[in-house]
Amino acid sequence: MERRCMFISSFVLILHLVQAQDPTGFINVDCGLPLRESPYNSLPTGLAYISDADLVKSGKTSRIAKEFEPDYTKPILKLRYFPDGVRNCYHLNVTRDTKYLIKATFVYGNYDGLNVDPNFDLYLGPNIWTTVCLVKTGISIPFINVLELRPLKKDMYVTQSGSLKYEFRRYLSNSDRNIRYPDDVYDRKWYPMFVANSWTQVTTNLNVNSSNLYELPKGVMSTGVTPLNPNATLNITWTIEPSTTKFYSYMHFAELQTLRANDTREFNITMNGKITYGPYSPKPLKTQTIFDITPEQCDGGACLLQLLKTSKSTLPPLLNAIEAFTVIDFPQMETNEDEVAGIKNVQDIYGLNKISWQGDPCVPKQFLWDGLNCNNSDISTPPIITSLDLSTSGLTGIITQAIQNLTHLEKLDLSNNNLTGEIPKFLADIKSLLVIDLSGNNLTGSVPPSLLQKKGMKLNVEGNPHLLCTAGSCVNKRKDGHKKKSIIVPVVASIASVAVIIGAFVMFLVLRKKKASKFEGPQPSYIQASDGRSSEPAIMTENKRFSYSEVIAMTNNFQRILGKGGFGIVYYGFVNGTKQVAVKILSHSSSQGYKQFKAEVELLLRVHHKNLVNLVGYCDEGENMALIYEYMSNGDLKEHMSGTRNRFILNWGTRLKIVSESAQGLEYLHNGCKPPMVHRDVKTTNILLSEHFEAKLADFGLSRSFPIEGETHVSTVVAGTPGYLDPEYYRTNWLTEKSDVYSFGIVLLEIITNQPVIDQSREKPHIAEWVGLMLTKGDIISIMDPTLNGDYDSGSVWKVVELAMSCLNPSSARRPTMSQVVIGLNECLAAENSRGVSLTFGTEVSPRAR
Ligand SMILES: *[C@@H]1O[C@H](CO)[C@@H](O)[C@H](O)[C@H]1NC(C)=O
Ligand SMILES: *[C@@H]1O[C@H](CO)[C@@H](O)[C@H](O)[C@H]1NC(C)=O
Ligand SMILES: *[C@@H]1O[C@H](CO)[C@@H](O)[C@H](O)[C@H]1NC(C)=O
Ligand SMILES: *[C@@H]1O[C@H](CO)[C@@H](O)[C@H](O)[C@H]1NC(C)=O
Ligand SMILES: *[C@@H]1O[C@H](CO)[C@@H](O)[C@H](O)[C@H]1NC(C)=O
Ligand SMILES: *[C@@H]1O[C@H](CO)[C@@H](O)[C@H](O)[C@H]1NC(C)=O
Ligand SMILES: *[C@@H]1O[C@H](CO)[C@@H](O)[C@H](O)[C@H]1NC(C)=O
Ligand SMILES: *[C@@H]1O[C@H](CO)[C@@H](O)[C@H](O)[C@H]1NC(C)=O
Ligand SMILES: *[C@@H]1O[C@H](CO)[C@@H](O)[C@H](O)[C@H]1NC(C)=O
Ligand SMILES: *[C@@H]1O[C@H](CO)[C@@H](O)[C@H](O)[C@H]1NC(C)=O
Repeated sequence: MERRCMFISSFVLILHLVQAQDPTGFINVDCGLPLRESPYNSLPTGLAYISDADLVKSGKTSRIAKEFEPDYTKPILKLRYFPDGVRNCYHLNVTRDTKYLIKATFVYGNYDGLNVDPNFDLYLGPNIWTTVCLVKTGISIPFINVLELRPLKKDMYVTQSGSLKYEFRRYLSNSDRNIRYPDDVYDRKWYPMFVANSWTQVTTNLNVNSSNLYELPKGVMSTGVTPLNPNATLNITWTIEPSTTKFYSYMHFAELQTLRANDTREFNITMNGKITYGPYSPKPLKTQTIFDITPEQCDGGACLLQLLKTSKSTLPPLLNAIEAFTVIDFPQMETNEDEVAGIKNVQDIYGLNKISWQGDPCVPKQFLWDGLNCNNSDISTPPIITSLDLSTSGLTGIITQAIQNLTHLEKLDLSNNNLTGEIPKFLADIKSLLVIDLSGNNLTGSVPPSLLQKKGMKLNVEGNPHLLCTAGSCVNKRKDGHKKKSIIVPVVASIASVAVIIGAFVMFLVLRKKKASKFEGPQPSYIQASDGRSSEPAIMTENKRFSYSEVIAMTNNFQRILGKGGFGIVYYGFVNGTKQVAVKILSHSSSQGYKQFKAEVELLLRVHHKNLVNLVGYCDEGENMALIYEYMSNGDLKEHMSGTRNRFILNWGTRLKIVSESAQGLEYLHNGCKPPMVHRDVKTTNILLSEHFEAKLADFGLSRSFPIEGETHVSTVVAGTPGYLDPEYYRTNWLTEKSDVYSFGIVLLEIITNQPVIDQSREKPHIAEWVGLMLTKGDIISIMDPTLNGDYDSGSVWKVVELAMSCLNPSSARRPTMSQVVIGLNECLAAENSRGVSLTFGTEVSPRAR
């Protein structure tokens, strides 16, 4: 009694794969079989069963309890169970485009001594490699005894969609013998069925020609039944759950009796009273199969199949065998098979042993492989792998070629491993791949130029001490052997980035002298490529170098003064007679000598961002030094704010756009360059406006105090403009990006208030203190520029006030980064632009002073 209390479930699925080439392509797996006992031939089929050790990466082996052994034979006796992980999968080497019959056998047999019926799910995934996954659904542990695959012919068991799940398979006979391989060449297992009180058996000793598509065994086709009462219908009933399940039935017929001339056997086939086929007469000793072309359903799940003798028939209906399958749809498409092959390759090459790396990498979503991200938003196309994170996975060896086949990767993280060798060029060929983190490895060679030149690429190669520096990619190692991070800095164009790095590197040394620990901490990991104009091809520096006589010519002998900027007077001019330029003639006192000037200019020539004023050339002829910039026809922000340029008032939206763009330029200096570059002189007169009122920052990168390494010279010149200067810089003499953030905060207050930065006649002369005071008084309206006439989205104004005050926090650490400022301003801009659309504000709209 107790012995029978066990879980026995054996079911068969026919997967929608196709075309059997090799009739002997059976896969017979005895799960839990030790390798040393593999393979063996099993009786009665004589088929060779192999161990599953090479097909599954997880699980433990066991065998059914002793008391159940007499009821079973190999290969059922042993089993594999999966205490770890939610999804455990077998990977089977199947033939591509082949339809398979897959049989999985589960006999609990109290193998764990707990005597509790287990419950778990089975997933099948057809691919180049078919997977059979056992999925834990509750507390019970999944297990499996036998896994068998038989290739079928492609035209057999055709479905409109999905795959077929075995419901039943019977041959009609009062025998007690099950028929399977070798009688059935596909190893379908046929059970006998007979209803003694209403059926009578018909058999033949003659040979039945069973060579139709379904290749039924002779033992199945040489026997059949007819109703006992020759006038009765032949009824077969079954139930299906759930009741809406669709199914296909397959009936196999052969006339087994020798009919006399005046005999006729003819009948109609009906399902639930509806005629599905007929009238039909079985062919003498020849197999025919009648099946559903479209799946059927039964009301309430109760199915009644009837064979109804027609009036013409002298003989009762006859049936030899019947099979029924329900439909399983796989609505979720499998991951693109090339990518599956690619990621499995990666897994094999690095010997990755991650428990979740089983089955389909992307679907079902809840079993997404650890470290992967996929795009399966479009249900009609196979999911694709978009991101691969193998950081800190103990990877060794080179960066494998296999990654090349993950052609939709957007993000690749191989950081903190022990990878060696060179950075492969193919990374640049993966079009969508724009974020690569290779930091913390032991890579050698140099960064491929194609990678450096890729637009929008963010590449991190920090912490690879042996990575060589190449022109255009990073700073050369310092000769003194001083320990330095090997930093490669991509990108926009390699050329542009070199420049940035050199400049920033110089500053890096300065800062190190002042406070050694400053740059030891984590640095921004990624290099942001310019989102500005497309990078120009590498332009020879020589082409940008002008002689002094050319400078005289282009300015028409310094005819028109545009203004006076840092370092000197700016003149209007033309290059090539057409291109308008602004030529800044440097006064002697402002430069530190030839070497440094040249280095800085070379740097600046290569910085390109749509919100940074572009340096187009320079002149360094002896004492005559000049910088030639793109011409900004609409002057600077200050002129527009003060109304000195024209009487046209910049509206709030335009002001927001201008500061938002300036913030982006500054953000690029801070984060797009590595190590970061500090502007040092952010102010409204350095925000220039192009013909189309596009804002660009000017006057950055030229330092007055960047001593070259080894020089004892330390500048005592305090950079910057009074009022805009970070008070913390005064105290510490230590310049950081946050000093620019402070200055930018002042610019923000200027566009809000249109007040002078310093006004001795004010209650508080400095604009930041004055605004702070007004805010604590709750007097918000009085700080607003009256010329705006209240024409602004108040929400966006308050937000900018709040942002400005946070930029002006006395503690630089508590100021936002420029990236945060950019985000905040973009939000304000969006709010302003959506004005007219109804906007609701909370009751607490007034910013708090800090
Ligand atoms: C997969 O099967 C094919 C032929 O059936 C065989 O050539 C190939 O070596 C097998 N691959 C593996 C990994 O077992
Ligand atoms: C069985 O039938 C097929 C055609 O239906 C025929 O080609 C074949 O020769 C027959 N076999 C025998 C043994 O009669
Ligand atoms: C079957 O039907 C025929 C005519 O309808 C009748 O003559 C015959 O007796 C019936 N046979 C049985 C066994 O009921
Ligand atoms: C077959 O089914 C029909 C309809 O349900 C019923 O009338 C008939 O008696 C059944 N015949 C047998 C032999 O069970
Ligand atoms: C059919 O023919 C046989 C002789 O060949 C005869 O005995 C039998 O009565 C006939 N049956 C009918 C229904 O006519
Ligand atoms: C069998 O089906 C045909 C049409 O397919 C129909 O004319 C005939 O009446 C049916 N006979 C029975 C007994 O259902
Ligand atoms: C996913 O791919 C589809 C195209 O198949 C694309 O439209 C969509 O933007 C992608 N989604 C993401 C998050 O990349
Ligand atoms: C990439 O895929 C192609 C075909 O899809 C295959 O031939 C090639 O071997 C794969 N390369 C790697 C490195 O896996
Ligand atoms: C790299 O390998 C060394 C020794 O081979 C080991 O000590 C170190 O932890 C490894 N680093 C990583 C990140 O795996
Ligand atoms: C890194 O590689 C170099 C050779 O390229 C080797 O000398 C060094 O030991 C490696 N470092 C580590 C930590 O494996």
